[in-house]
Amino acid sequence: MNGVERVHFEEIESTNTYIKTRRNEGKDLIVTATAQTGGRGTKGRSFSAEKGGVYLSKLSHYTDFPASQAFKIMIGGAVAVCKTLEHYGLRPVIKWPNDIHVNGKKICGILIENVFSGKNISSSVVGIGVNVCNLLPDSLDAIATSMLIETGKTFDVEEVTRYLIAMFDVEWTINDYHAYIGYMGREVTLILGEESKAATLRSVDGEGGLWAEIDGKLQRLTAAEVSVRL
Ligand code: BTN
Repeated sequence: MNGVERVHFEEIESTNTYIKTRRNEGKDLIVTATAQTGGRGTKGRSFSAEKGGVYLSKLSHYTDFPASQAFKIMIGGAVAVCKTLEHYGLRPVIKWPNDIHVNGKKICGILIENVFSGKNISSSVVGIGVNVCNLLPDSLDAIATSMLIETGKTFDVEEVTRYLIAMFDVEWTINDYHAYIGYMGREVTLILGEESKAATLRSVDGEGGLWAEIDGKLQRLTAAEVSVRL
């Protein structure tokens, strides 16, 4: 990503929404913001984005990237965040597919928005929100955390952002992803549309499928069809 243009906003609705307006320019781009007024999460949820966090979107264009390898994009984002958090003394784990947790609570969310062209991905937006020193809503107390909460230390958000951008430059592999995957062997609730099912998480395969034991049977699930509730 060296040499990729970076644009920074003090405040913006959503770095992902903005960066998508620049897709047609055909160039890779990074957009960061000090705060977002309408941060977006996965599955149409909102994402709290007060000043003090890292809010970053990365736009990449591809010429020959099979859609069947979409998981590689997730690996790149999730492992880059884990490496960054580790650098600052935290012990992150990935909650499949790409939430990052520390001590059982979410510290980072990733929203990936791909554009498909036939059987290929022509461009992707990887949007990352890391809770650094930002205040979190009280309603998230039980499920969210930040670098400040975990370490008792404040961090320079710009320095964390630059470290994260550098980690994005590395081609991380499924082995790197596996090194950080958490909650395997754990009993969880799987949300499949309107249905909830008790399950035990077993593994994640090379295409990003989750293998879980449901009613004694091992089943493969995709991120599009299921959410994991701890
Ligand atoms: C999730 O946990 O559901 C994903 C959250 C992704 C948040 C980031 S912050 C930067 C980028 N801009 C957005 O509007 N969303 C992503």
